Amino acid sequence: MSYDFNRVIERRGSGCMKWDDTEDYFGVRDVLPLWVADMDFEAPREVREALLKRAKHGIYGYGARCPGLYEAQKEWLKRRWGWEIEDSWLTVSPGVIPALIMALRAFTEPGDRVALQTPSYPPFFAAVEKNGRQVAAIPLKVEGGRYQMDFPRLEETLDAGVKLLILCSPHNPVGRVWEEEELRRLGGICCRRRVLVVSDEIHGDIILSGRHIPFPLLSPEFAGNSLVLTSTSKTFNLAGLQVSSTIIPNPELRRRYRHVQQGSGFSRPNIFGQAAAAAAYAHGEPWLEALLEHFRGNLQFFLYYLREHLPELVVIPPEGTYLVWMDCRRLGMDDQELRDFFLKEAGVAFNSGHTFGPEGRGFLRVNLACPRKVLEEALGRVQRALRARKGQ
Ligand SMILES: Cc1ncc(COP(=O)(O)O)c(C=O)c1O
Repeated sequence: MSYDFNRVIERRGSGCMKWDDTEDYFGVRDVLPLWVADMDFEAPREVREALLKRAKHGIYGYGARCPGLYEAQKEWLKRRWGWEIEDSWLTVSPGVIPALIMALRAFTEPGDRVALQTPSYPPFFAAVEKNGRQVAAIPLKVEGGRYQMDFPRLEETLDAGVKLLILCSPHNPVGRVWEEEELRRLGGICCRRRVLVVSDEIHGDIILSGRHIPFPLLSPEFAGNSLVLTSTSKTFNLAGLQVSSTIIPNPELRRRYRHVQQGSGFSRPNIFGQAAAAAAYAHGEPWLEALLEHFRGNLQFFLYYLREHLPELVVIPPEGTYLVWMDCRRLGMDDQELRDFFLKEAGVAFNSGHTFGPEGRGFLRVNLACPRKVLEEALGRVQRALRARKGQ
């Protein structure tokens, strides 16, 4: 079966955030959107068929667990992540960020400090702060041309009093796929201080190089002190269906999490989201393998283009995710200038780095989940705008 990730499909007018909300979000219309993390591709055929089949049934009352979902997900995790889980560990949640917020409410109190490794996916800050908790930021450092965890800083921050750590694995926005050694060290530091780890593994299937290791797999102690949040939403482009999985091996943590989820009114899972997830886990693997090849090709093209035509823009190639964390500091613009230049002069929408925390100043995040032609057009626009600015 061949898959065509280079077909351009019109998304404008479909009520999608990436293409239809640029005016609301950036104050500018008609920009080429390579920002929010969803893809300009159709979901796998089997997923679309499962949705049509469920829709044709015609009765959309309260949902129960979708037949086949747990079996397909368990098989997937075993095969692709090397992780064998039990049915009882799984809870269907209405999205990874909603699940994170419920975990914060279940395991921390207002005023508690929650650790994040920065730069960080902006909704993590919002989830912590809008729920009356405080962010304890632990900046990553760049060493040997690679983003790394800063362990002395991690220990120091946790020693100052932290209840819970949000691990982003693989990391959005820097694209690191954490290695076993790094996860073991982080897990040991957290366990010794009884800091609960909430491991957001939503990008765990988007691996360009290396291997994704689910955090609880590394030891029974880590399994007892963690929750994994994941979903088919990034992997198969199903974010609009709002279904995710919260995986909790420890029965006491599970009881507390479920109590908050039920108390929040999320006791019934979305029927379409579940049908799509079940089909994706059961049948989506060949599609995903082809998708990863497309991303690797887009990334190579992106790196080539920067090297040849835009040497002022610097990138450490991501190992996972379809996002590129682009260092624009050599352009010498402040964040407002950078934003205005890319939006208004180049006509492209990327995510502003400073929204990922202070370490993101001077950076932009670019989403490569688009047809090659769209990426070429975006980079061409940036090149032309830079030339015009230099008066060449
Ligand atoms: C690390 C991370 N977590 C969570 C989400 C959002 O998850 P959901 O849409 O299920 O709330 C994203 C989306 O980009 C993400 O990158």
